[in-house]
Amino acid sequence: MIDPRREAAGAFTTTVAFVTTSGKRGPNVMAAEWTFTVSRNPFLISVHLSPKDATHDAIVEKGEFGVSLVGEDQVAAMGFAGHFTHHETDKLSSELFETYPAKKIDAPMIKGCPVNLECKLVQKVLMGDHTAFVGEVVEIAIDPAKRPIAYRHGAYQLGPRIERAHGIGVAVTPRVCKPGSDIAIDGELTCLERAGRDVIVSLESGAGVKLVAGSSRTDEHGFFELKLKVPVEVSKGEYRIAARHETSEGCARLTVN
Ligand SMILES: Cc1cc2nc3c(=O)[nH]c(=O)nc-3n(C[C@H](O)[C@H](O)[C@H](O)COP(=O)(O)O)c2cc1C
Repeated sequence: MIDPRREAAGAFTTTVAFVTTSGKRGPNVMAAEWTFTVSRNPFLISVHLSPKDATHDAIVEKGEFGVSLVGEDQVAAMGFAGHFTHHETDKLSSELFETYPAKKIDAPMIKGCPVNLECKLVQKVLMGDHTAFVGEVVEIAIDPAKRPIAYRHGAYQLGPRIERAHGIGVAVTPRVCKPGSDIAIDGELTCLERAGRDVIVSLESGAGVKLVAGSSRTDEHGFFELKLKVPVEVSKGEYRIAARHETSEGCARLTVN
């Protein structure tokens, strides 16, 4: 039988980090998929570790840890770091790992990664069956030639960037208003040539009868905005805000009450 929690958790796609420490048992590495940027300024990273992991105790002990994103050619090392535990195995003795000494913390850093971050622990929060260790990044090394993996029930290469379908997204604020109200229309044109384009925006009845219209020119990124006034004589009901450019059309729902 399908376990919906497992299915839902497995649908998240992440990077994976090597988390490195140097506790009383010596230097160690583990794999951690639950590793995230949680603040830009200060630059904070959280890693979410099971209290069963030897790395957990080493971070509590030393108050620092290394985070090195797993690159495309490091998947075997990731699996190894994520399978064995330092409670039993000295993983860094394996030639799967090449390390260099961190500059600002006492931990080995993994060579050949797209990003290496040295972190000082600033917060530790127990969350369910994992502990969130939040570290402030005190040293950054980036290798733009390396690409991080994407992880989702296994490791994948990042594919080509998704180009958005041509179209218009549009919203009206407020979405519920009285006759005679001013309404603000915000939208985005997503065709290739989207800068400096004229978009026609109209307030229409459900039957497609135009009640009021205006036009707006897109900015350099394809965004546009416009104000319209709902005519005082419109009756209560459901209306559409339709935005059109050539063959593209986008609509928003407006209720007049
Ligand atoms: C791809 C992958 C991702 C993992 N992500 C996590 C994670 O985010 N948090 C965690 O506690 N364990 C995670 N693990 C499991 C640990 O890496 C594993 O328990 C490891 O043996 C702990 O090593 P340690 O006891 O030497 O610290 C992951 C394992 C793999 C293979």
